[in-house]
Amino acid sequence: MRSSLAGAALILMALTLLGCGEETPEGASPDPWEAVELPRAKDLDPSPGVFELELEAGVGKARYVAAGTTPVWTYNGTSPGPLIELAVGDRLKAHFSNALPEETTVHWHGLRIPAAMDGTMAMQNPTQPGGTFEYEFVVKDAGLFWFHPHVRSDEQVEKGLYAPIVVRGPNEPSADREVVWMLDDVALEADGSRPEYLDDESKMLGRHGDTLLVNGVVSPTVEVQAGELLRMRLVNAANGRFFNLAMSGQTFRVIGSDGGFVPKPYDTDRVLIAPGERYDVMLVVSAEPGEKLELTNEPYERGHGTAEDPPMRVATLRISKQPALEGRVLPAAFPDIEKLPAQAVDFPIVLNEAMVGADMAFTVNGKAFPDVATLSVPNGSLRVLGVSNESEMDHPFHLHGFFFQVLAKNGMPMGADTLANKDTIIVPAKGSLDLIARFDEPGMWMYHCHILEHAEGGMAGLIQVE
Ligand code: C2O
Ligand code: CU
Repeated sequence: MRSSLAGAALILMALTLLGCGEETPEGASPDPWEAVELPRAKDLDPSPGVFELELEAGVGKARYVAAGTTPVWTYNGTSPGPLIELAVGDRLKAHFSNALPEETTVHWHGLRIPAAMDGTMAMQNPTQPGGTFEYEFVVKDAGLFWFHPHVRSDEQVEKGLYAPIVVRGPNEPSADREVVWMLDDVALEADGSRPEYLDDESKMLGRHGDTLLVNGVVSPTVEVQAGELLRMRLVNAANGRFFNLAMSGQTFRVIGSDGGFVPKPYDTDRVLIAPGERYDVMLVVSAEPGEKLELTNEPYERGHGTAEDPPMRVATLRISKQPALEGRVLPAAFPDIEKLPAQAVDFPIVLNEAMVGADMAFTVNGKAFPDVATLSVPNGSLRVLGVSNESEMDHPFHLHGFFFQVLAKNGMPMGADTLANKDTIIVPAKGSLDLIARFDEPGMWMYHCHILEHAEGGMAGLIQVE
């Protein structure tokens, strides 16, 4: 749950009623929507086209369980931090200050911005405790993005340092309700405190916890109306957990992913979101007044027997007693996006695990970062990364600064219907993806696995765009 005090009080009430992770008793009132919404960042600059904010990373507390509080790291006092809402072409100015006990940076995941603003240590010195940094850039693309630190990211993100950015464009579909949900999980002791250690399983699969969070709220229950057209914009902010979402027999229409809308929306009853990925889905709520729909995380085999994990409740949608809304229609198409031409692999990138010295490392081409050879690309060129995964588990591959498109999966060319701009994608265990990108912004850019323990454990590399 968010660490904001008003929210905390409301949710504490709700939690005491519900008990964590248990069935919602009939008749208990749902959480107010506001309790599950993130605070919105306020624009300090009245001029149109410029969004200016003070952004402070700091230390706080959240109340996830009734028995006690949990230490969290926050942006502007809450975990997740505030939602930043922009329009395409806006200039964002973030006056960042670091009130943490250690150095940090802000990485703007998915935004195509100058490398100097990207928040990696390849491009900036980390901001020391008490220090400041000015981030300023123009946002080019509509979509859902997020920001988080890029220093000791496995620990800093796990502590709750992240927040979403929505960039709206000219083709937004209408909806009765739009939500931005950041999904995460935390490991908690009964009194709410956190085990801080990194055990072998967390090292292997990324830190995991049995408490699921939606915008910092433990398994919320909210109320919707039958027939309502709902748009859910989802970010997986967990270190290691894959979310494989289903909702009591409902069908989701996927309208977009990391880099904005997809030209051909498609229907699915499962939305699989790896750490770092985003999905933009819509549904017409198909249920009777008084019913309940459970949003659950279904088992998914990402390696090491994870398909054995039981389903878990992420949230509950209670259908209000109001008569059903009529005539809501899901969007069927969005404008085309430029399809990058197929070409041969330029850079093979082999992901694996290996012993490096006495330690297990996560490797790229047999080396652990920073010993991975830097790739070099002339500015403006198209290049294909042939990413193959020789390990026993999936790795969500993330490229900074550029969108990519999938040309081929396991050597088979992709159909035109799947065209999407992505920045993070699952490379399945023992599988491969050919990813093409136009490298049109100079600087030093990172790519890495978005299981942050893997990234910090060596599965990362650099691309120098000259
Ligand atoms: Cu969201 Cu380099 O990461
Ligand atoms: Cu990985």
